[in-house]
Amino acid sequence: MSDKQYVKNILCIGAGYVGGPTMTVIANFCPDYKVTVVDISRERIDRWNSDDLPIYEPGLKERVLKARGQNLFFSTDIDRGIDEADIIFVSVNTPTKTFGEGAGRAVDLQYIEKTARRIKASSKSDKIIVEKSTVPVRAAETLSKILHSGNNSVHFEILSNPEFMAEGTGIHDMENPDRVLIGSMDTPSGRAARDELIKIYERWVPREKMVTSDLWSSELSKLVSNAFLAQRISSINSISALCEVTGADVDEVARAVGKDSRIGPKFLRAGLGFGGSCFRKDILNLIYLCEHYGLQPAADFWQQVIAINDFQMQRFVHRMVAAMFNTVADKKITLFGFAFKPDTGDTRDSPAIHISKMLLKERARLWVTDPHALNNARQDLEDVEGEIVYEPDPYKAAEGAHAIALMTEWDQYRSLDYRRIFDRMEKPAFLFDGRNHLDHQALFDLGFNVYAVGKPDRTRFNNDSQ
Ligand SMILES: NC(=O)c1ccc[n+]([C@@H]2O[C@H](COP(=O)([O-])OP(=O)(O)OC[C@H]3O[C@@H](n4cnc5c(N)ncnc54)[C@H](O)[C@@H]3O)[C@@H](O)[C@H]2O)c1
Repeated sequence: MSDKQYVKNILCIGAGYVGGPTMTVIANFCPDYKVTVVDISRERIDRWNSDDLPIYEPGLKERVLKARGQNLFFSTDIDRGIDEADIIFVSVNTPTKTFGEGAGRAVDLQYIEKTARRIKASSKSDKIIVEKSTVPVRAAETLSKILHSGNNSVHFEILSNPEFMAEGTGIHDMENPDRVLIGSMDTPSGRAARDELIKIYERWVPREKMVTSDLWSSELSKLVSNAFLAQRISSINSISALCEVTGADVDEVARAVGKDSRIGPKFLRAGLGFGGSCFRKDILNLIYLCEHYGLQPAADFWQQVIAINDFQMQRFVHRMVAAMFNTVADKKITLFGFAFKPDTGDTRDSPAIHISKMLLKERARLWVTDPHALNNARQDLEDVEGEIVYEPDPYKAAEGAHAIALMTEWDQYRSLDYRRIFDRMEKPAFLFDGRNHLDHQALFDLGFNVYAVGKPDRTRFNNDSQ
């Protein structure tokens, strides 16, 4: 199709975990729109144009292959992309600031700001700018100020359209969203821009799932959604600590509590704590905003969600060391999984990183296995001192190990031959299930000493069959 035949040109700036998959889904459902994804990273773009996509997400590859070269393009020519675009999605990273004022809490907005300046410099016609990145409330105001500064006569209409997909189920979430949230200015041009975006989503999203709102509420809703999800994880994890010392079983508690229709059953699984690129940074962002507006008790409330998450990982390692006779020095410990959740290779802020560092400080010898995350794991731990081996085969990784610690609930870890694994491990053999993912009774029956989150220990030391 020549450019003239496309209904509209869409550009997405930022070809990451959000930009790549969201644009692929749009390209699939809107074959008459030209969708171009650009990035400053040549390596990322080259991989989007190859068979070895830069991210793993179930269902992504076949959808990319269906549209790539037809109406979906990946490029590093950012300025040309901006010039040609009618609608620009901004999907760059918004990490936690590591320097200066607000370090460790506020969002580092430099990537957003650089993007805005570049859009302004390369635009010769009016455009709709869609905030896809997660940003602090009122970020659209900053964007607008930068875009409309100086003597540029081009008009930019800014929309907020936060992304709610979860990695691992990203394609499914985007194709079947609970809602599509669009925030706009309540002006004729704001409403017109909003309707342009609705026209895209309505190709596959039922109208009743589109939620329209003002800009600030839309921006804040994304932070609040992540904060509430993380809060549920911390809530059940705080209870798991109590279960371990009282003999209650956290899964039983969650089952009973979750039956209450006011509470519901989702996000009530105890585990190692949340990870990923978003929860921690978005709660920190919320905390910073509360502090900025002088609402210290609200900031303290959300800070506790993070504190419980850290406590959960520390408790896990403490329990490992205590169970293994108070020392793991020179013991081989095999981590099953490293990604922050299954069905993704993403390891950003994965609990496995924190747990690895704590175990290495205790001088354990670490073997890490994961079906998709070993390259990322290697990068995460490259500056950490100690013995670390990366082994894709879980059987080899567990050979001669004193303990297995399950970090990620990959499906395939359920169907491994644990008898074969047990036979080749040091005895007594320990298994610490950080995700309550495995069949604990079966493992215990095989001879393992099994420790699961929020559950009584299943050890063989008293009835001694070792
Ligand atoms: N990952 C998720 O699950 C998820 C879910 C919802 C929302 N979000 C939000 O979406 C945003 C993007 O997240 P992500 O996980 O895709 O990040 P990412 O780091 O995977 O991707 C961001 C990309 O932007 C590129 N980039 C940075 N500055 C640029 C610039 N000036 N010009 C062009 N490209 C630039 C980077 O090179 C990178 O490839 C963040 O704000 C995040 O909070 C993420």
